Formats: sequence, structure tokens, C-alpha cells
Amino acid sequence: MDAMQLRILIFCLLPLLLPLSSSAASSDGAHNITRILAKHPEFSTFNHYLSTTHLAAEINRRRTITVCAVDNAAMNELLAKHYSLPTIKNILSLHIFADYFGAKKLHQITKGSTTTSSLFQATGEAAGTSGYVNITDIKGGKVGFSPVDNDGGGRPMATYVKSIEEQAYVISVIQISHILSSPEAEAPTAGPSDLNVTSLMAKQGCKAFSDLITAQGADETFQQSVEGGLTIFCPSDESLDSFMPRYKNLTADGKTSLLLYHGIPVYNSLGMLRSSNGLMNTLATEGAKKFDFTVQNDGDDVKLETKVVTATIEGTLIDEDPLAVYKIDKVLLPKELFKAAPPAPAPKPSKSAKSKAKSQDDDADSPGPSADDEAVADEESNSNGGRALGGGFAAVCVSLVVGILACIS
Ligand SMILES: *[C@@H]1O[C@H](CO)[C@@H](O)[C@H](O)[C@H]1NC(C)=O
Ligand SMILES: *[C@@H]1O[C@H](CO)[C@@H](O)[C@H](O)[C@H]1NC(C)=O
Ligand SMILES: *[C@@H]1O[C@H](CO)[C@@H](O)[C@H](O)[C@H]1NC(C)=O
Ligand SMILES: *[C@@H]1O[C@H](CO)[C@@H](O)[C@H](O)[C@H]1NC(C)=O
Repeated sequence: MDAMQLRILIFCLLPLLLPLSSSAASSDGAHNITRILAKHPEFSTFNHYLSTTHLAAEINRRRTITVCAVDNAAMNELLAKHYSLPTIKNILSLHIFADYFGAKKLHQITKGSTTTSSLFQATGEAAGTSGYVNITDIKGGKVGFSPVDNDGGGRPMATYVKSIEEQAYVISVIQISHILSSPEAEAPTAGPSDLNVTSLMAKQGCKAFSDLITAQGADETFQQSVEGGLTIFCPSDESLDSFMPRYKNLTADGKTSLLLYHGIPVYNSLGMLRSSNGLMNTLATEGAKKFDFTVQNDGDDVKLETKVVTATIEGTLIDEDPLAVYKIDKVLLPKELFKAAPPAPAPKPSKSAKSKAKSQDDDADSPGPSADDEAVADEESNSNGGRALGGGFAAVCVSLVVGILACIS
């Protein structure tokens, strides 16, 4: 009987507790590495270079991350080697792990050693295992860190010094004794303008888009834009796959415009995209042909809104001033080539039927490429999704009220 009552009580309280805990987690999630390190002047050089290399924005964006900071003396040793900024970025990105290692977890590494991936993996510079760091429990309770392809190079092994800040399972900032480095990270980086943009995209999950650019002869335009600053949004292979029938229907000029529409002639880190919402011109913009879209942040996500479709950034292929390439989940459809979706509020059934009939008339008159019906279909499925979500929310509310009533009675 008692156990039963307890179970009912927990069941009743659960809906009340859940919103509290999730809101606490989301406020914890908004970490700012610059602000965390600013409280500790002995890390000011490290902090400065996290910002100038744009790694700070990458750290703030991630939800499970460990930052291994070094003090100003250790940074001065690194700076004495006069590396270029891209090389310093590669080396510092070895200090950022895509996993959470609080002080406790570090001292309880099972089997004495573990391997974790660093952000150097994500830069597109690391080959093979060179973006991984080996964390080892060494004798006497010390914890050592060494990049997996480290040749030793006469460098002393970096060891754990202290915890600077921990937000459980979100961000752990620790101090280590020395800079982590490896021959791979120190290798002179090709300036981004020497990078082959199409082969970089092909190697990192945007092969279909890269192939279209090459086939259409648009690679020169992309390549030549790098030096002055370029941001490319490449649709994932899956999203291009389903778009291909409509792509094939475009004229040659239309194809080129569509491809160029995915590049903007300025460098934008993710942090910059989040804070510079608004209209963006693209490589396809020319005189009266606007070919623009709107950048809009939605919490942590960055969305790209054309009048026809809204795409979300899914990942970073490269972010190295002056070049950034991001993967997006949908092909960007310019209103110049595809019919704009009807305005946001779902039209009343009767009206929508009428406008559909009208658009079919239009099609009959103009034989050009037509994605009209599909645009309308997309819009409809979106609004259905919205309704389904709304229904789910209502159901949660009802169960919440029922739960509270049950508690009170
Ligand atoms: C992080 O904090 C720094 C220093 O307080 C501030 O300049 C910067 O805008 C903050 N970044 C974000 C993304 O809030
Ligand atoms: C990690 O370091 C430990 C100790 O130096 C070594 O035994 C282990 O083989 C290393 N692991 C890798 C993957 O390099
Ligand atoms: C990029 O690489 C591809 C394939 O390796 C090659 O065909 C193309 O000419 C290269 N582009 C530039 C600008 O070097
Ligand atoms: C391509 O164009 C043809 C002729 O205009 C049309 O019948 C067909 O539905 C279009 N296909 C797609 C996928 O838009």
C-alpha cells in the first residue's frame, strides 16, 4: 500500500519537476568560454587566441566539451615559434575535446588510458588518427595527455594541473601543464586560398553538391572567391538526392544560379552568422537578380530562409578565415527559380483548393520548369507537422492538469 502511494506521488510530481530541471539545464548550456577564462588572468593569452582563431564560438556552440587551457607561460613558449594563425588554430584545437572530462572522470579512467577526439579532427586538416588525444593515468595519481601521433619530439608530456570550471556533462575547463602538439598540427597549413574547395567538400560529406559544381563549371567562381572571403552552405548528399529531378529540370543558367546561390562572398564563422541575422547576398546575386536569403538564428541553430524553403546548418566542414563551409539539411531554393510558398498561416481549405487550381492554370500557360505543386505540398506537410506538434503539446498539458488534480485530491 505504502509503495503504491509513493508511486502515485512520484507520478504526480514528475510533470512538475521536469520543466524545472530542463530549464535549469538550458541555462547551464549557455556557456561562454571567453567569460569563464576572463575570471583567470593567468589564461589571458590562451583566451585571446581562442577568440582570434574563432575556436571560442565553436566551444560555446557545443554541449559536451572539455577545454584544456594552458597558462600564459606555456602560451609564450608556443608563440615563440612564430607559427601562422591557422597553425596556432590547429594546435589549440587539439586542446578541445568533443567529450566531457571532469576532474573525477579524468582520475577514474578505466584500463589506465583512453583516446578521445579533439576539434583538430573537425578542421579538415587532421589525417588519420592525428586529431586524437591519448589520456593516461600515470603513476602517482597524475593524468597525462598526448596526441596520438605524437613523436615525443623531446616535449615533456602535458599533465593535469587543476579544474578551472565544471558544468556537469556540458563543459569542463581544466588546466594542463604544457601545450599539446603534434607534427601534423604544426605542419604549415596551406592557406585557405590554396585549398581546393570542391575536393574539400567531396571529402567531407558534400560529394554530390561538389560534383554538380564541377559538372556545371562553377568551381572556378567558388575557388576565385575564397581569397576575398567565402562562406559555402552545401546541401547534404541525402537532400540533393531527392532534389535531383527538379534540378535536372532547370535550364543551364538556372543550374549555375542555383549552385552559386549556396555561396556568400564573405567569411562568416558560426558565431558571426548567429549574431548577424538578416539578408545575405550570394554569388548568384547580379544586378536585378537578387538571389538573396535571410539568416536567422533559432536558439543555437542557424537557419537560412528563402521565400520557398528554410534550411538548417547541420555541421562545419571547415571554418578557417577567410573560408567557411557548412553542411545544411535542405537545398536552398531561390524564389527567382522556384515558386514561393504561400505566406505562413495555413490557408483555409477552400482558398487553398482555389489557389491550387489557379497555379495549375499558370502551369498550363507557362511550360517552364515547375516546382509549384511540390512547393505547395511542402508547405502543407509543414503545417500538418505543426498541427501534430500542437496536438502533442495539448496532450502533455492535459496530462499535467490531470496529474496535478490527482495530487490535490
Ligand atoms: C562571451 O563573453 C564575452 C566577454 O564577456 C563577450 O564579449 C561575448 O560577446 C560573449 N559571447 C557570446 C556568444 O555571448
Ligand atoms: C596511450 O598511452 C599509453 C601510455 O603511454 C600507452 O600505453 C597506450 O598504448 C597509448 N594509446 C594509444 C592509442 O596511443
Ligand atoms: C580541384 O580538384 C579537382 C579534382 O582533384 C580538379 O579536377 C580541379 O582542377 C581542382 N581545382 C583547382 C582549382 O585546383
Ligand atoms: C519537369 O518539367 C516537366 C515539363 O515542364 C514537368 O512535366 C515535370 O513535372 C517536371 N518535373 C519536376 C520534378 O519538376
